[in-house]
Amino acid sequence: MKYLSFLIPVAGSAVFFVTGCNNPGTSALTPYSYTIQKSMISYNGAVVSAHPLASKVGVMILQQGGNAVDAAIATQLALAVVYPGAGNLGGGGFMVAYLKDGQSVAIDYREQAPAAAARDMYLDSSGNPVMRLSQYGHLSAGVPGTVAGLFASIKYATMPFEQLITPAIALAEKGFVITAGEATSLNHTQEEFQQYNTFPVAFIKQEGWKPGDTLVQTDLSETLKRIRDKGRSGFYEGETASLVVSEMKKGNGIISPDDLKNYEARERQPVEFNYKGYTILSMPLPSSGGIILQQCLKMIEQRNIGQMGFQSAWSVQLMAETERRAFADRAEFMGDIDFVKVPVHALTSDAYLEERMSDFIQGRAGSSEQIQAGRLNRESEETTHLSIADQWGNVVAVTTTLNGSYGSKTVVSGAGFLLNNEMDDFSVKPGVPNMYGALGSEANAIAPGKRMLSSMTPTIVLKDNEPYLVVGTPGGTTIPTSVFQTIVNIIDFNLSASDAVNKPKFHHQWMPDELYVERDFPSAIADSLQDMGYTITRRDNIGRTELIRIEKNKTGKGYLFESVADKRGDDAAEGF
Ligand code: DON
Repeated sequence: MKYLSFLIPVAGSAVFFVTGCNNPGTSALTPYSYTIQKSMISYNGAVVSAHPLASKVGVMILQQGGNAVDAAIATQLALAVVYPGAGNLGGGGFMVAYLKDGQSVAIDYREQAPAAAARDMYLDSSGNPVMRLSQYGHLSAGVPGTVAGLFASIKYATMPFEQLITPAIALAEKGFVITAGEATSLNHTQEEFQQYNTFPVAFIKQEGWKPGDTLVQTDLSETLKRIRDKGRSGFYEGETASLVVSEMKKGNGIISPDDLKNYEARERQPVEFNYKGYTILSMPLPSSGGIILQQCLKMIEQRNIGQMGFQSAWSVQLMAETERRAFADRAEFMGDIDFVKVPVHALTSDAYLEERMSDFIQGRAGSSEQIQAGRLNRESEETTHLSIADQWGNVVAVTTTLNGSYGSKTVVSGAGFLLNNEMDDFSVKPGVPNMYGALGSEANAIAPGKRMLSSMTPTIVLKDNEPYLVVGTPGGTTIPTSVFQTIVNIIDFNLSASDAVNKPKFHHQWMPDELYVERDFPSAIADSLQDMGYTITRRDNIGRTELIRIEKNKTGKGYLFESVADKRGDDAAEGF
């Protein structure tokens, strides 16, 4: 028998405590009885993710002798079950890793446009965008990349795939207790699930979900078993592929058997640059995240931001102005590098970035050219990040997404997983903002097989060639700016890992020309920024950052891992 205890804030960290038949606190998986731990010091390995059960699965794999890549695969599969809003089989993502032998890795498993996609597919006969089509239902889905990504990463793993997927299968088949946050989120989405599905889906409970209810996903467990037994073709071919294609037919979707069969994850060269003696590794195109991070950090590097002080009006202004400039470049130049020429080298060169800041005036707001005001979507956004480190010095940062919360809201009937609505990350028409208010141009126009521009920024910071930070977050366009702040908070402002994650965040993205600040951002600083000429917009949570800070153990052998899970969600830090 299971029963819910309550939500208790303990010693400054939110703890979700569900009491049941199992004993919490052991390393065994206890899906009916678990707590949320917000920070932790450990010595043998660490996993931070958006859900405590997924973090625990990752740590179990590390305890069984797996490396950080093994744990990243198992954690992603667990998230696909316990965190359906963003964890996924039907979405895509990016992995950045730094391995103990000094190798750096970037794997792109971003969704791509189906072969039948066309540049104007979301425009009506008068040429006006129909955002409902790019954001909801079958037509909004790109060809999923996640399963291909997991199999592309397996070459850096050490365990049989079967061992890595087993916990996810159990969680789907036997169910797990949902948190208060998940109950609210599922209830909030109930109408849309009804609208975009033609059959009963596991995520709908007519009388409404309560914290402590058990979510069982039988169809999903069968899909996971097919992947376990047949590898990537258990998803991209055979029964799962047929189910996806039949689902497409129900709602004017265009993903074909060939789209699925031909999908490939791609290994890429990580974005790599030096910031004040630290080496930063991050995701290259088709994510704009790594380039934006590089541009922002390089634009502040010579300006002694540390002396301005953490969240002083001057330091926030300086950072916001770099963000404005980076996002203007994103809109104009960036897209899938396999389809368009992007002047990456020029955009990140020191001379260019210096020139870019030549019109910066301290104490006075810059002005974004008026093209078309975008609006940030504050409700239905969901992506998820995980940071993992093992005792051998391997570190992995993964950000993965369905795009919006629960993606297209369409579940593949019989297969139990949600399809993404990633097509909305293309520029459906130049000058028309996507759901995150991002503008795009020709470079990010839709084309068959092309990957839509992302902002996801899984990032690793090295100090003396040893892993130092593993960081990333969801949050649409706020992703690179949150990663930027987290890194500067640690390197320049000497904040603790916990403060670096949890202190209020801010965001500028060129268009709309507004400076977004979280609700708890200090009012006095917001007022000073307003006096400089900024339009300040208060908004709900920015991101859910997962951070591991790593030190060499004092003995010189091994590491100390300080893991921090963002206070803004059910995110949990685990280690051993
Ligand atoms: O790839 C991107 O940039 C977006 N699809 C990410 C969406 C996201 O982070 C939503 N999460 N809060």
